[in-house]
Amino acid sequence: MTEPAPSATRLDDDARRADPATFEPRITAFVCNWCTYTGADLAGTSRLHMASNVRIIRLPCTGRIDHVFIVKAFERGADGVIVSGCHPADCHYTSGNYHARRRFGVFRELLSFMGVDPERLTFSWVSASEGAKWKDVVDETVARVRRLGPFDAYHQLAGPALPTDDPFAAMEVRDDRQGGGRGVAGDTTAGPGVSHQAGAPAGGAS
Ligand code: FES
Repeated sequence: MTEPAPSATRLDDDARRADPATFEPRITAFVCNWCTYTGADLAGTSRLHMASNVRIIRLPCTGRIDHVFIVKAFERGADGVIVSGCHPADCHYTSGNYHARRRFGVFRELLSFMGVDPERLTFSWVSASEGAKWKDVVDETVARVRRLGPFDAYHQLAGPALPTDDPFAAMEVRDDRQGGGRGVAGDTTAGPGVSHQAGAPAGGAS
């Protein structure tokens, strides 16, 4: 089967990413609805200036964040990933964040084996009142990933199969409030309750 020719936009984007002077990291953030999402919202409504490189995917709880979501994010063009939720003892579902902490502690150890620098993954606790902390998490993650450079190994593997040149658009998910029963498009591992907040508050300074 003949692969489609890359579009001019895709070629321009590749050139910008290859040049350290113009490289802007793409960061995907998986956050819980009850603490970090609200904290990110607070950062936006407080008009805190922060890097605009982050796209937020809101889930009910960090306990809902499967490590496959992270692999998929890298595969679909992310250079770095943030996972963030309620502080220990504050989880809306009592123990979801404890499960997440244990899961991502192990997963982080596996990242090098999988060819991904563990520095590309940030795990943090941000409460609903910590808009300033969310800004710091975003800025520090963007600066660190900018130093590491682009991560295209997984994206190149998945490239021809992507439905669009825009990796964030490729991560389009259905909001189950509109009747969708699954999460990330084409990803049967994602279950109900996943929603995508394109242009969500942490995406940029307002
Ligand atoms: Fe926020 Fe569980 S509800 S981590």
